[in-house]
Amino acid sequence: MAREFSSVGVVGLGTMGAGIVEVFARNGIDVVAVEISDAALERGRATLTGSTDRAVAKGKLAEADRDALLARVDWQVGLDALHSVDLVIEAVPEHLDLKQRIFAELDRVCKPEAILATNTSSLSVTEISVATTRPNQVIGIHFFNPAPVMKLVEVVRTVVTSADVVADVEALCERLGKVDVTINDRAGFIANALLFGYLNHAVGMFESHYASREDIDAAMKLGCGLPMGPLALMDLIGLDTAYEILDTMYRRGGRDRRHAPVPLIKQMVTAGLLGRKSGRGFYTYERPGSPVVVPDEQTPVATGPALADGARAIAKVGVVGSGTMATGIIEVFAKAGYEVVSVTRGAEKSAKVCEAVKTSLNKGVVRGKLSEADRDAALGRVTWSAALDHLADVDLVVEAVVEELSVKKALFASLDEICKPGVVLATTTSSLPVIDVAMATQRPADVVGLHFFNPAPIMPLVEIVQTIRTSAETTATARAVCAALGKTGVVCGDRSGFIVNALLFPYLNDAVKMLEASYSTADDIDYAMKLGCGYPMGPFELLDVVGLDVSLAIQRELYLELREPGFAPAPLLEHLVTAGYLGRKSGRGFRDHTNR
Ligand SMILES: NC(=O)c1ccc[n+]([C@@H]2O[C@H](COP(=O)([O-])OP(=O)(O)OC[C@H]3O[C@@H](n4cnc5c(N)ncnc54)[C@H](O)[C@@H]3O)[C@@H](O)[C@H]2O)c1
Repeated sequence: MAREFSSVGVVGLGTMGAGIVEVFARNGIDVVAVEISDAALERGRATLTGSTDRAVAKGKLAEADRDALLARVDWQVGLDALHSVDLVIEAVPEHLDLKQRIFAELDRVCKPEAILATNTSSLSVTEISVATTRPNQVIGIHFFNPAPVMKLVEVVRTVVTSADVVADVEALCERLGKVDVTINDRAGFIANALLFGYLNHAVGMFESHYASREDIDAAMKLGCGLPMGPLALMDLIGLDTAYEILDTMYRRGGRDRRHAPVPLIKQMVTAGLLGRKSGRGFYTYERPGSPVVVPDEQTPVATGPALADGARAIAKVGVVGSGTMATGIIEVFAKAGYEVVSVTRGAEKSAKVCEAVKTSLNKGVVRGKLSEADRDAALGRVTWSAALDHLADVDLVVEAVVEELSVKKALFASLDEICKPGVVLATTTSSLPVIDVAMATQRPADVVGLHFFNPAPIMPLVEIVQTIRTSAETTATARAVCAALGKTGVVCGDRSGFIVNALLFPYLNDAVKMLEASYSTADDIDYAMKLGCGYPMGPFELLDVVGLDVSLAIQRELYLELREPGFAPAPLLEHLVTAGYLGRKSGRGFRDHTNR
């Protein structure tokens, strides 16, 4: 029989604590909510009332239930109020000495059988537990932000946590409607160990002006389907908390430089820019604690008419290539009203591409997303050719041929001879340096990367890659074209992986390293990222879809360009590729897909 928890205590009612109070009270458990001062107690109470009032306004909570929920909470200053609770969760700032002091005090105040839990994200639960005389009753219960919403709880056992306590806490999580994964005490557990290297890297991109905050966030939301971008997430977590987590992970997790907090984070914390809770972090919020972003001096001004900022007029577009990307890109331009010249290496290939575009457009008609007239008009705008000479009068060329530098360079040299002056020459490469293809022409200022995502007609994101020679006019043209296509264009520098792959693949590689170290299972790691961080797929699901060979190649490129030791491909990934386990396409990757 699992232990009954009729009342629990929550210590610290900040970003996490107030949410944890709500989780318990919503599930019929009495809560003693403790803060350090009356003012902090009031803030915590206001957070809870704000959250429950919003739930009532949205029709997710009946008024009577809200009142009952609020009545279950006993607001108190000081730990003495916790003398008769069955379990305490501590959610004070991420400092070991502070947590140890609180645990020593809780040990003195709480009844002997009470379980003492910490919500720490990165500190050692073991080190916290030894501040008490009952380390076998100390455990980590790591909720995710926002606690009432995110389904996952990481249950962290130390080497001395008793099995009964682990089982009781697991049962409690179930009662709270959460999904728990139970793991050992390691810096960052599952989710943060995979998340924080990525967040820190994103801040580094912003700090080095590689891309704007809006573009970094839009890239990860639209390119990976994440619920929020990394900088918005830093603001939600709180920059002070994020700094402490990174700092601890750096020190506890083998001094991986990727966890050494980017200097900007410390500067922002010192300046009081803590994120949502202080009303300003990477973004500016309506008021402290509000989720509503308001414009500030960094907010891009809407460009208005497409040609206002020096963009060139584009009416006719050449698309070179006959693969998946070229096919999708032809469809995207034709549907958006551009005249398109498709150039392949022969009539047979052109016929195939034409067929594929027709099939895709027909699907749109069947699904009611496109009228027959619009389909016919789109097809009517495309000219099919096998000769590059037909690109003599286009305004923009998008190259989507095989991912080989020599082939792309030769093509760009030809385009340079054929195309009229002022044409924007774009490459869809996902891994080659755009400057290499630009320098194959006599007009590098007109060359830009337009990195579409697969499938191009569906994915809303395009990375616009500026080389050090790309002119502002060319970038403005690329932006205007993306907007006219109904896509979000994000501008970034010409570095391996651009924004999305540079941030995504090291995280996937880290997940493989975590599995390889037997810290957790592929299923639990996938759960942790989906239920704790709202990712649409777990890392192993995604690796199997993308292909392990493709992932390995991208990770190698990143490693070679940045020479970052933490980017070295996981040996397990290399072995699986060598063994022919490439993911769904070969029937087996991290999982067996033959019978699914
Ligand atoms: N922010 C997140 O996204 C997140 C997610 C999961 C876990 N955590 C972890 O949760 C813990 C709390 O983080 P947070 O972001 O909620 O911090 P926070 O700064 O928002 O809140 C901490 C609260 O603790 C209170 N406090 C400080 N000293 C206290 C004391 N002696 N007694 C009682 N209350 C005290 C403060 O007044 C403040 O309200 C940390 O260990 C953090 O790593 C944070």
